[in-house]
Amino acid sequence: MSKLLYFSKFQIVLFLTISFSVLFVNCQQATQTEKVEIIQSATGKKAMVVSAHHLATKVGNDILRKGGNAIDATIAVQYALAVVYPRAGNIGGGGFMVIRSKDGKYDSIDYREKAPKASTKDMYLDSLGNVIPGLSRNGHLAVGVPGTVEGMFEVHKKYGQLKDFKQLIQPAIDLAANGFLLTPLEIERLNRFKADFQKYNKSDNAFIKNTPWIEGDRLVQEELAHTLSLIRDKGRAGFYEGETADKIVAEMKAGNGIITHDDLTSYNAKWRAPLVGDYKNFKIISMAPPSSGGIALLQLLKIVEDYPLSEYGFQSKKAMHLMIEAERRVYSDRAKHLGDNDFYKVPQDSLLDKVYIKERMSDFNPQKATPSDLVAAGSFAIPMESFETTHTSVIDVDGNAVSTTTTLNSNFGSKVVVTDAGFFLNNEMDDFSAKPGVPNQFGLVGNEANAIEPEKRMLSSMTPTIVEKDGELFMVLGSPGGSTIITAVFQVFLNVVEFGMPLDDALFAKRFHHQWLPDVVMYENGGLTEASKQSLKELGHSIKDVKYMALVKAIHVKPDGELHGVGDNRSEDHAAGY
Ligand code: GLY
Repeated sequence: MSKLLYFSKFQIVLFLTISFSVLFVNCQQATQTEKVEIIQSATGKKAMVVSAHHLATKVGNDILRKGGNAIDATIAVQYALAVVYPRAGNIGGGGFMVIRSKDGKYDSIDYREKAPKASTKDMYLDSLGNVIPGLSRNGHLAVGVPGTVEGMFEVHKKYGQLKDFKQLIQPAIDLAANGFLLTPLEIERLNRFKADFQKYNKSDNAFIKNTPWIEGDRLVQEELAHTLSLIRDKGRAGFYEGETADKIVAEMKAGNGIITHDDLTSYNAKWRAPLVGDYKNFKIISMAPPSSGGIALLQLLKIVEDYPLSEYGFQSKKAMHLMIEAERRVYSDRAKHLGDNDFYKVPQDSLLDKVYIKERMSDFNPQKATPSDLVAAGSFAIPMESFETTHTSVIDVDGNAVSTTTTLNSNFGSKVVVTDAGFFLNNEMDDFSAKPGVPNQFGLVGNEANAIEPEKRMLSSMTPTIVEKDGELFMVLGSPGGSTIITAVFQVFLNVVEFGMPLDDALFAKRFHHQWLPDVVMYENGGLTEASKQSLKELGHSIKDVKYMALVKAIHVKPDGELHGVGDNRSEDHAAGY
């Protein structure tokens, strides 16, 4: 599937220009139309990259063709996304990466942001103990200590094949310095957030200069190009020390933020054992805490494993009811038990114990929804806002596979751009539980397990996942989408293995989601037939339509070895391989 988008430069200027000489110049430029082909479903014999932006996917492919492995390509894509996909691609955020090497070994790294050392449990509460609206979501106090740059150096050191790191970051520097053509979606989004950019930034920056953005505009980011050059030339110290660190700390001081030089120099990424579990003859390799993604995905799969899902049929009443009730119970576990294992003993083994999981479903009634109040207490309105983060899936010619999800949290994170350094800072502090039982932007509630503590990592839903079938690489997948990430990965996997769909159909199929609280089944617009909606209501479910949920990027290794890469048709994802 492909979409063609045509842009013509300076169309509006043409109409307004009266001087002959200016008109002549513009006529020449207007004839140079640029064509961007967005390809969401692609096949390749050897290698594949799926990312959120066609230019980042191209950068990844170029690195693979130069002899880089999947890790090299992923690093290059990550830096390219920080330029061409500023809403979520980042150097001011963090993420997780799951790796399956060609010889079948698994690894994962956590480069999630950390709470600054001056953080306190009650930092977002007023004197009466109420959450101050917005404080953990926008502006300087919402920012966690960024982990992406450290994470990229760590994976390169351990797994990189192209030893010269400069090759991996230079494409991003060039894109930032020379600029790139904005797509209509990006134009709309940058214009929509302009008021926020102005509110949380004192000076002009590349995102608000010369706005509003119009079709044909290029985004040039000279300051970001300079920051990336410092990382290229000085390594980790180009970000966590010296000029860039000074700029981050000055930005914090200007906006009452609390990140210090000490926070930056002491930041560390962590190699963690990935979570590995079985579903029938599939092995699921996913992310351990501080992501909830791996545990929740494995719990969901273990619950549905014993039911004849394929017999029930795709989005049949029986299949949906079972999956919704599983989701309800798993998300209530998430709220109570999950947090950063380095600070809170997550009962991982108990949560994944088969007997425990069966017990969780002992009150499942095939004829009736179980109200979430009976699964655990609490009820509130839906404060869903945005579903931003981004995912990249890569397989290289040798069969190394990388699944990585990275985030600023909301669209453009805290909306704070580091002055003179040109990049957005995350608002990841909102992924902590600011107060037990009070929902964050995704409507997720938390508890002691995810309370704020200095240097702790906030709980995540990111679910970068790799799947083996009978010991062979079968699928690489993951998604942005806040709380809906886990259910999207769950459903895309089941669509392929239980409902027999090719990967593109599996991704493009409309999704549904339940997260315990609020007690409502969300479904994508146009996704359920009237009969399906009626049957869910008859079972006692409340339902609510939303525009879309999650943007999955996946690669399926077909039985003949061909790679099928698919990005989501809900956005401008781009798949390419060879
Ligand atoms: N910031 C979204 C997540 O980590 O789940």
